[in-house]
Amino acid sequence: MQTILVTGGTGYIGSHTVVALLESGYKVVILDNLCNSSAKVVDRILKIAHPNAQLTFIEGDIRDTNKLDQLFKDHLFEGVIHFAGLKAVGQSVTHPITYYDNNVYGSLCLIQAMNTAKVKTIVFSSSATVYGEDAPVPYEESMPRGNTTNPYGTSKAMIEKILADQCIADNQWSVAQLRYFNPIGAHKSGLIGEDPKGIPNNLLPYITQVAIGKRKELSVFGVDYPTPDGTGIRDYIHVVDLAKGHLKALKKIQPTHNNPQEHRQGSGEHIWNLGTGQGYSVLEVICAFEKACGVIIPYATEPRRKGDLAAFWANANKARAELNWQAPLTLEHMVTDAWHWQQSNPQGYN
Ligand code: NAD
Ligand code: UFG
Repeated sequence: MQTILVTGGTGYIGSHTVVALLESGYKVVILDNLCNSSAKVVDRILKIAHPNAQLTFIEGDIRDTNKLDQLFKDHLFEGVIHFAGLKAVGQSVTHPITYYDNNVYGSLCLIQAMNTAKVKTIVFSSSATVYGEDAPVPYEESMPRGNTTNPYGTSKAMIEKILADQCIADNQWSVAQLRYFNPIGAHKSGLIGEDPKGIPNNLLPYITQVAIGKRKELSVFGVDYPTPDGTGIRDYIHVVDLAKGHLKALKKIQPTHNNPQEHRQGSGEHIWNLGTGQGYSVLEVICAFEKACGVIIPYATEPRRKGDLAAFWANANKARAELNWQAPLTLEHMVTDAWHWQQSNPQGYN
């Protein structure tokens, strides 16, 4: 049984990925400082996977180098999936030092500890935001890391570059840089899902909070974009499909101990877009939610949100060809599962 370290594993995407890992027979150790998640997630994960699944939760910060070194001494990790990070774009503009410290310095601490322990396999949570504001759509992995428009995006591009350089320096490193598009939805059990603190920044959690009566109406940011209905277009992907992409990527890059030739194929830097390849506008998402969930979402049109792009979506061919991975769950599944999670947990994990 292989053991995987999952940083940020009690968070939104992390928790769904831990379920997928446990269901595939991995042992998992979560390291999370709970700055944006709840320890209650651990029991929920076990309920879904199996009460006897091999899961250990350790509360701690990736910048705590002593703790990290001890962790790598206590466990024989076959690889790391690195979710831990701060992700609020607007907050990163007002608190850049916090973002570079947590995301970039934190990742450096992790990479250093991995190197010392000779654990050289990592799947990293990157973002479509690293393509920057000038990239043509659909985004392809061969495009350069572009002009990022905020410290959050820059922190992701910096971490990608550090990992890429480490692969050049040491050919035993295997790195998957997974560029997520817009993850939404929740596990179909309704036991785990997205639980934003305070006012949600993102579209879907805002919609579900309006639907449940926590917020009066949705603000639609911008109706004058050069898109068919004037609202922004994104590539929404079900979080469960996204989680499965991590397993495929991990398996692809993991060294196979008895076949050095295969190891060489898996090592080095690999970049994969994890999206569906299909974009939907804000109005289309509202409409899909109303239709699937039978709840009307009152909304007001507002000016464009600063820093938002008109439209972007993935070219998802590379992940399909190289990982044999696709995202089959539709927008209807995404909104239905998000609504089921919200209804089952009106106050999130509280
Ligand atoms: P999340 O906030 O739910 O999960 C992140 C987890 O990391 C949280 O549980 C938090 O407590 C933990 N964490 C943060 N800093 C830490 C630190 N220093 N030490 C230990 N734990 C720490 O976010 P998410 O949506 O699950 O995102 C996971 C990753 O995916 C993040 O790196 C994020 O930037 C990236 N990502 C997310 C999206 C998205 O739309 N959700 C899109 C692209 C990329
Ligand atoms: N939107 C609204 N009203 C809201 C929230 C969002 O109209 O209350 C609109 C936005 O203007 C945008 C679309 O809905 O057109 C999606 O916005 P989100 O905030 O849900 O997502 P973003 O595309 O802005 O950003 C997300 C993550 C980033 C990540 C990026 C690419 O939040 O961290 O996807 O992966 F970098």
